[in-house]
Amino acid sequence: KCLMGYTRPFVKCGESGYLMPGAFKKHAEGIYNMEVRPDDVWVITFPRSGTTWIQEMVWLAENDLDYITAKETPLYKRFPMLETTCILPEVSFELIKINFFGLGNFQGLNEAVRVPSWKTIEKAPSPRFIKTHLPLSMLPPNLLSTAKVIYVARDPRDVAVSYYYLHKMTTKKLLRANMTHFWEAFRRDLLPWTPIVAHANEAYTKRHHPNLHFVYYEDMKKDLVTEVAKVCSFLGKDYSDIQIKKLAEHLTFDNLRKNKNVNNSTGKDEGIQFIRKGEAGGWKAHFDEKMQLQAEEFLTERLRGLELRYPSFP
Ligand code: A3P
Repeated sequence: KCLMGYTRPFVKCGESGYLMPGAFKKHAEGIYNMEVRPDDVWVITFPRSGTTWIQEMVWLAENDLDYITAKETPLYKRFPMLETTCILPEVSFELIKINFFGLGNFQGLNEAVRVPSWKTIEKAPSPRFIKTHLPLSMLPPNLLSTAKVIYVARDPRDVAVSYYYLHKMTTKKLLRANMTHFWEAFRRDLLPWTPIVAHANEAYTKRHHPNLHFVYYEDMKKDLVTEVAKVCSFLGKDYSDIQIKKLAEHLTFDNLRKNKNVNNSTGKDEGIQFIRKGEAGGWKAHFDEKMQLQAEEFLTERLRGLELRYPSFP
């Protein structure tokens, strides 16, 4: 299957036919069979759902609130992404030619570009912190019974807007689509890692598992201190109220946006930043009436028969 602007085939993988670049086929089995360790912490999200936000929270919580190391070491090194570079080596240069989806532009990724990151992570010393956008069904089947997992879900309408700006940021000269086109591809599951609702539902159905913490972006927006406390308690950390408040303060939108180790930059993003607006409900300013109706239909239809609900779409 090909997407708008893409000339290379994509493959559908996992329980709900998640869209991945064809090159992923070579790595799917290796990732699925990866050894999981009991002291691993995995963060799973659909792209643009607040991954970076929760990663910084989890890393600090797990590392005795070591703000100094957090300040000295970029997040992508402390908390590497499982499938990024396995997509990049074979696809990125093609992508540059086809003028679309330049996920390879982020700082730091080039240095590892020839090594599929899951292979590096496989050999990394414990404790490992692993970020992935792959849904549970594409990850090792013993993941939940072995390691701690945190899943963040966000209103798909805000994700669509945020994902659009991510594409503009990484390939702004290259991406011809406007928000309407992009939304069309999003709701038709024609973008990497879609479909989003099934992705979140896989985790939601396991939300009572003792090794899974399921959190909504919207709840972090509403009461960060409470959500930080919940994450710390899930990780078995007993921090004082003052320590929790300090961590929440470190994680505010303004502070993370200023934080160069967290706010990824392509260096040529012309004003669009990885940590961009940080709003819940910002999609309303980007969707015209027709798109709003489509989005309602999309959510109603996709959520039908599922346990999952979003706070902003109950
Ligand atoms: P927007 O583009 O809507 O601003 P991810 O890390 O999964 O790619 O998610 C990125 C989204 O999370 C961006 O959304 C970004 O601004 C938002 N985000 C990151 N840190 C945040 C924070 N501290 N508060 C609110 N939103 C945050």
